[in-house]
Amino acid sequence: MKSMIVLLGPPGAGKGTQGEKLQTELGYVRLSTGDMLREAVRNGTELGKLAKTYMDSGALVPNDVIIGLMKDKIQSLGKVPGIIFDGFPRTVEQAEALDKELDVDLALNFDVADEALIERLTQRRSCPNPDCQAVYHLVYNPPKCEGKCDKCGSELYQRDDDKAETVKNRLKTYHEKTQPLVDYYTKAGKICTIPGIGDIDEIFAKVKKAIQ
Ligand code: AP5
Repeated sequence: MKSMIVLLGPPGAGKGTQGEKLQTELGYVRLSTGDMLREAVRNGTELGKLAKTYMDSGALVPNDVIIGLMKDKIQSLGKVPGIIFDGFPRTVEQAEALDKELDVDLALNFDVADEALIERLTQRRSCPNPDCQAVYHLVYNPPKCEGKCDKCGSELYQRDDDKAETVKNRLKTYHEKTQPLVDYYTKAGKICTIPGIGDIDEIFAKVKKAIQ
């Protein structure tokens, strides 16, 4: 099984949904820069205060901040069987920094058209518990009990950056800054593109096949 896996794709493509399944069903460590930043915002740390200004407008947090954060995180993990990188790298500079830390085996690229993403994100609900961070969709993946996380019972919330106007900016940022990574990993012979539309478990079956 591939061990170092990058999840690529626009906001709302299903990186968190599939990454969480890889973590719970196959035992990968999942590192999500978005989750780390949101936790920092909740805790009111200096990083959180800085990150919030970028996140609220749909822009990327500066490369040096993110690269430093991820380097520390990777080094603190020590030796683990496999890592899922969810939301990192997001620029070519970040990808080059990651290549200096470890060998990426596979970049899984979830392909979803922009129109579907807006609907997905504005109806997403997230679990705030840092040890859980499950994601739901009001229609496609609703919690069993309205407003409560199935896994830990926490009150679900709507992310500040899931409002329609911010979502449009996030998509613009994705096309400008992150989409070039598809070329980057294609040239490295490490890309596998999976259509991100359809049943979540059927997509996960394709993910499992790709990581064999
Ligand atoms: P981050 O948290 O990484 O957000 P993102 O990349 O925009 O991705 P999302 O979490 O919005 O979507 P996802 O692909 O995980 O989709 P999900 O599975 O939730 O980043 C947030 C911000 O932090 C950035 O804007 C930036 O400011 C900053 N940041 C983070 N990393 C950074 C970095 N490396 N550098 C600089 N800045 C950084 O699914 C979405 C919805 O769709 C859910 O409701 C889900 O239930 C539903 N869904 C999933 N799959 C399906 C399906 N197959 N069919 C129907 N619905 C589905």
